[in-house]
Amino acid sequence: MEQLRFDGRVAVVTGAGGGLGKAYALLLGSRGAKVVVNDLGSARDGVGKSNFADAVVKEIKDKGGDAVADYNSVVEGEKIIKTALDTYGRVDILINNAGILRDRSFPKISEQDWDLVNAVHLKGAFKTTQAAWETFKKQKFGRVVMTSSNAGLMGNFGQSNYSAAKMGLVGLASTLAIEGAKYNIKVNTIVPTAASRLTEDILPPDMFQAMKPELIAPVVAYMVHDSFEDNGIIIDSTLGFAHKAHLVRSKGTPLRNKPSDPVTIESVKEKWSDVVNMSSAKRIDKITEVTLDLVQGLQEFEDRSKLDSQNPSHWSTASYNSKDLVCYALGVGASVVNPSDLKFLYESHEDFTALPTFFILMGMCMDSPVVNNAMPKGKHADFTNILHGEQYVEFLDEFPGTEGQFTTRNYVVDLLDKGSSAVAIVNSEVYQDKQLVVRTQQHIFVVGQGGFNGPRNSDKAIGVLPAPKRNPDAVVEQKTAEDQAALYRLSGDLNPLHIDPSVATASGHPRPILHGLASLGFSARHVLAKFAGNDPKNVKAIKARFAKPVLPGQTLVTEMWLEGKRVHFQTKVKETGNIVIAGAYVDMKSVVQAGPVAAQSTQSSEALKSDSIFLKVQEEIKANPDKAKSVGAIFLYKITRNGKLVKQWTMNLKSDIGVYEGEPKTGKADTTLTVSDDDFVEIASGQLSPQNAFLKGKIKISGNLMLAQKLGPLLKTGSKL
Ligand code: NAI
Repeated sequence: MEQLRFDGRVAVVTGAGGGLGKAYALLLGSRGAKVVVNDLGSARDGVGKSNFADAVVKEIKDKGGDAVADYNSVVEGEKIIKTALDTYGRVDILINNAGILRDRSFPKISEQDWDLVNAVHLKGAFKTTQAAWETFKKQKFGRVVMTSSNAGLMGNFGQSNYSAAKMGLVGLASTLAIEGAKYNIKVNTIVPTAASRLTEDILPPDMFQAMKPELIAPVVAYMVHDSFEDNGIIIDSTLGFAHKAHLVRSKGTPLRNKPSDPVTIESVKEKWSDVVNMSSAKRIDKITEVTLDLVQGLQEFEDRSKLDSQNPSHWSTASYNSKDLVCYALGVGASVVNPSDLKFLYESHEDFTALPTFFILMGMCMDSPVVNNAMPKGKHADFTNILHGEQYVEFLDEFPGTEGQFTTRNYVVDLLDKGSSAVAIVNSEVYQDKQLVVRTQQHIFVVGQGGFNGPRNSDKAIGVLPAPKRNPDAVVEQKTAEDQAALYRLSGDLNPLHIDPSVATASGHPRPILHGLASLGFSARHVLAKFAGNDPKNVKAIKARFAKPVLPGQTLVTEMWLEGKRVHFQTKVKETGNIVIAGAYVDMKSVVQAGPVAAQSTQSSEALKSDSIFLKVQEEIKANPDKAKSVGAIFLYKITRNGKLVKQWTMNLKSDIGVYEGEPKTGKADTTLTVSDDDFVEIASGQLSPQNAFLKGKIKISGNLMLAQKLGPLLKTGSKL
């Protein structure tokens, strides 16, 4: 990087006879600035005078710089600025650094201690800055640094006068930053911690040695450079580190339940935990934003109160980002082995997107009190007696993006009495920027809490639909991993039933079970791939009933039937034949079928590990068509799994150069290679030599055997086939 210089700039550094100020002055002087080295030369309590600024001036001059000493007190700041103007004809940079200490515990602070400390720090900065301000304005350039302290930001025993002055400087800087903005005057604050006479009896000796002012000086010098763009910020620096500090405000809360209620001391106490909850705290930069925030808050409160009066609701906010989407996608079986899944797993993929079922999580009511609140007298619902019975999700507008913040309203629309159990129909409305984007409905079984003479059915319940009687149009099979539930729970449902063997046993399961929503995520992915072109934007709604639990490690078989724009599906566990998701369907905005449906109904066309290798070869051939053509042959790969043919790939290196799934579209294969998916990957990765594979019978070659050998050199650079 080019050296950052200060040529032509005049810098005033107050209290620059020693400590931090000296380091600032020396650094600026060495980089071309003309420096006014101000120092009253007092003792650390502000008493006395001496000329130690002279030594600093000498040091700057000895190194070829230009500097002048000034012995005025900052309390007469205008005199210091006059020195700059008289000597150099301008002033560009002002570092308000002078300071003294008069530490006493609060009761012992005399008025004089108070006044003097405030005079040097706060009034001094006011005087110097005001004296330079007109010049800054006229020349449309000014860089000011105020010096605060952690004692000001956080308080420190025995430093009440000092803390007050130091925090006063933050307020001064905040306002001057606003007033100076349009004149290119930047006013920022440094919070240093360094070895100096002010800290020699405060810091432990080891630290004292290490905390050199020279480690902070470059930070302050950058903050007064022409190229520095921040304004009104606080930088805390020490020991070669720097941090930004600022005040934040909690999201806050209304102090009453509805606008017509009074605010009472009791209601304040009741809401206090929300008042001080900093989880959604944010920085507010401008005072106008406080008003705007308040106006918006009031409007939101009134809107919510109206909705709450129809159905008592629970409101919550949640954010998500690409990491959440990837974690979720892994939880529902997306895998890098499957190239078409990469868009759900790789945040830099050009089509990176959320899976539609991810948004079910935004509406989850398991942690909200709505179900229990809706229970009749004497009945209760908590996480020990509730079961997720059915799930619905609907996308109202555009499919949500890959990060965002949602506000969710949960409410019970109906409570059904099913005899022994109750069923709460819980709706959620998920808003993004006040726009309703997702709607969900959950049917929550509350085991053993029925029998309250409630209705058995509800016209507000979105029901499941029976699957057609004919054979499915498509079937996809996928084995879940032993760790599937352990992975899925990271997306938010931490119920121990899915991880803790003792809890699972106590609930009557042989071991922890997979989340119903995880199985639904698998099946919805299968439908997406088969009938939505793998594009979540084509999905309008999904509905499913959880019929039986799934154990991690079992194989899910999703059977699908296409009926117009609706895909009915049900999910079975291959090992038991049990239907685990029943009466389910996906409503499409548009149907995009993956290949002929009939062919898929007979075999799983779940992507294979070898797919990615063929795709890579495809790219390579595209890049080097001539090299490919020189082989002059058509190869057909028959990929098997468990001895069964699962996929075919053509590598045409003869006429219609290209690599694609299926048999040759033109001509006939000269050589056919039959190999299992796993062996193919081993060969491609170099773990198994093609010769060995052939000798061991792992690869079968029919047709022209010699031609197979031509493949090696062609693809050597890439996938080593
Ligand atoms: P220091 O005592 O070495 O430097 C302060 C300088 O200000 C002294 O040379 C002193 O003669 C001069 N001074 C005092 N009253 C003055 C006045 N009325 N007019 C002109 N000059 C005057 O101490 P240090 O540590 O270098 O402090 C620099 C600044 O950094 C101070 O504002 C201090 O409060 C602040 N600070 C320092 C911390 C540290 O760890 N050293 C921590 C937090 C803040």
